Amino acid sequence: MIIIASHNGAIGIADAMRVLKHGGSALDAVEIGIRAVEANPADHSVGYNGYPNILGELELDASIMDGRTLNSGAVALMRGFPYAISVARQVLERDQPHVLLAGQGAERFAREIDAESWGEMLTDEIKAVWRERLAAVGATHRVARNSDESTELTDERPLLDLVKLATDPERVAGTVNFIAMDGVGDIACGVSTSGWAWKYPGRIGDSPIIGAGNYADNRTGACACTGMGEMAIRASTARSLVLYLQMGLSLAEAGRRAMSDLRDLGGGYIGGMNLIALDRDGNHVGLSTDAGRTYIFQHADMDTHGEVEREVVEIPSRWAGAPCA
Ligand code: GLY
Repeated sequence: MIIIASHNGAIGIADAMRVLKHGGSALDAVEIGIRAVEANPADHSVGYNGYPNILGELELDASIMDGRTLNSGAVALMRGFPYAISVARQVLERDQPHVLLAGQGAERFAREIDAESWGEMLTDEIKAVWRERLAAVGATHRVARNSDESTELTDERPLLDLVKLATDPERVAGTVNFIAMDGVGDIACGVSTSGWAWKYPGRIGDSPIIGAGNYADNRTGACACTGMGEMAIRASTARSLVLYLQMGLSLAEAGRRAMSDLRDLGGGYIGGMNLIALDRDGNHVGLSTDAGRTYIFQHADMDTHGEVEREVVEIPSRWAGAPCA
């Protein structure tokens, strides 16, 4: 039994390990671990009190994958429900043909399954940070409700222009990753995020995209990503790592290859990327484009989790054509 997670998973890894020790499945452990992060108001990259989009609305993305069957469930752009991972789990569990539900459909599904709804999802503190950011780029933060209940800024500039100005490479993306192997050797992987701070409404990152931010296959292993989701979507990073494992590379080599693939991406927006991965033998790795990043792990015989520094794979950042700090 082992669980690995991004460092912000520290708040949930003990509960997740308890689930495994009581005979729970890898899927159960991943869900429980991520729920703790989604409920944590101090984590502004995941669940409740995450950074909102440019209109000040919190839109959540999450996915969960079962390595036994490659069954997956995912939600994107979901508003009003803090536990996106649990809604994603129900997309996986309910006997229905879909893998990914987005926006109003995801919210409707969440209501149908009686998912916990919190109404207000942002604290005044985060609303103030959003207003400050808009003010910093000279935008009005007055919002208007349209007749169709959508929200608009009263600023007359196109939102895309504002998003480009407001986007802050330091807050571009945060996410939580959990990968678990249970007592019978089954592997599951889960990812949850509120996405980029100040993103364009409707922007979906890698977290709910199976193969991009999340992939699990009992026969080889699992991989989950945090960082600039657009890069993982374009390079199918999580699936790439697992495919490199299938091709016979060691876990460390598979991780380096999946990260190095990102160097070939063109365009003006290349940011930070991080991944964690577990193979079927219980080996684990973490890689990052940035020095000093860590991930956590816990075996069944450990009282508390350990923390390991990630190996660095350098990928020069570009932000609108200019290097970013
Ligand atoms: N990695 C999370 C996101 O880009 O939304």
